Amino acid sequence: MVLKKAMNKDLTITILGMGYIGLPTGIAFARAGFTVYGFDVNKNVIETLKSGKIHIVEPDLQEAYEDALRSERLIPTDKLEKSDVYIIAVPTPFKKDENQKIADLKYVESASKMVGEILEENNLVILESTVPPMTTKLMTDILENTSGISREKFMSVHCPERVLPGKILHELEHNDRIIGAERYEAAEVAKTIYDAMVKEGTCFITDDITAEMCKLVENTFRDVNIAFANELSVICDKLNIDVFELIKLANKHPRVNILTPGAGVGGHCLAVDPWFIVEKFPNEANVIREARLINDFKPRFIVNKIDEVLKGNKELTVGVLGLSYKPDIDDLRESPAMEIAEILRDKGYNTIACEPNVKEKTASGFELYSLEEIIEKANYLVLTQGHTEFKNKLVKLRDKNIYDCIGLLK
Ligand SMILES: NC(=O)c1ccc[n+]([C@@H]2O[C@H](COP(=O)([O-])OP(=O)(O)OC[C@H]3O[C@@H](n4cnc5c(N)ncnc54)[C@H](O)[C@@H]3O)[C@@H](O)[C@H]2O)c1
Repeated sequence: MVLKKAMNKDLTITILGMGYIGLPTGIAFARAGFTVYGFDVNKNVIETLKSGKIHIVEPDLQEAYEDALRSERLIPTDKLEKSDVYIIAVPTPFKKDENQKIADLKYVESASKMVGEILEENNLVILESTVPPMTTKLMTDILENTSGISREKFMSVHCPERVLPGKILHELEHNDRIIGAERYEAAEVAKTIYDAMVKEGTCFITDDITAEMCKLVENTFRDVNIAFANELSVICDKLNIDVFELIKLANKHPRVNILTPGAGVGGHCLAVDPWFIVEKFPNEANVIREARLINDFKPRFIVNKIDEVLKGNKELTVGVLGLSYKPDIDDLRESPAMEIAEILRDKGYNTIACEPNVKEKTASGFELYSLEEIIEKANYLVLTQGHTEFKNKLVKLRDKNIYDCIGLLK
């Protein structure tokens, strides 16, 4: 019955959390022909959405949102309405304690309780937030306890999100999806819904724990491989050899593909998700934890090298080229490049920056300059990111006093 309704797109979907994931997901499901309610506990978010504007920065999303509103298939609301399907896309940050990297599941728990209070038999609840293993079972327990409906009579699944900021809508409609559930029937209904939204990718069914781990392992794989490259960069520094040359030559082996070292690892996924595995398996996840620590250490290593070169002369001006956490984006949150700039400033160097993707004149208290201006003003430069702007003007950087974190000048 529910499967048939899903096939006919004859069911309502409510999304809890209208952020970077929930809003584009709502738009994508509306585009696929479903009726979607977009709910958020933050009234400002809903007010903005109701006024026809989006509150997040994402290319082309405003136009797509306007289309979805016009179609009357996406309805922003500050009241959680009964639905056939609920999608939970709320934050999963760390707990405040800096010494312990443990997932704070309070948003998932409160969203699950809210759904539990209006849940009916045969409803489907989808957890999209990135979570430690076993959290989908926790969500199902909360739903069961709050609603009084036993878990065999409703459906709960995990369908993790794997989109790239800057291309979210496109990736939602083109990436493969992993759908995991305790009960196959639940995953099958969810697959029917996602199949209608995903234009090119394939939706794969598995169990809930495998789906949870799949998301975490994807980002952990990247983090561990980057850590290997970053560790090599530290070893090569001690050997006084060029890590970029070493990696280029090692990669001539047909089965070797070492990544490029950099300023560290930032952003909200790669630097966070591996800890969700470490938290559950502190005695087993040794490579994963060590990789995180290596990548977290890299900004301090780089600043120490710069300090050695500048011999602690605080009269000098250091120009940081690139503040974002990866090339060609304006996102400065959790950025290792920003950490480099902050440590340099804390050490007393006059620190300025060039971040071509940020339009303002300052960022986190750093004065921002064009590449030409910063070359003029700084005594020493730190190249942290392979922004297109820098790649296009490499010739201007070649003969400068510069610490090249990414080997762009090689
Ligand atoms: N942003 C990304 O690129 C990305 C990529 C993959 C996975 N994820 C994961 O997706 C999840 C959501 O991330 P995001 O970036 O969309 O977060 P976000 O902070 O942009 O949005 C989350 C929204 O949830 C709302 N919220 C909190 N509790 C709620 C509740 N009980 N009911 C309704 N709304 C509630 C908040 O007000 C907020 O607007 C996280 O687990 C994140 O790790 C994010």
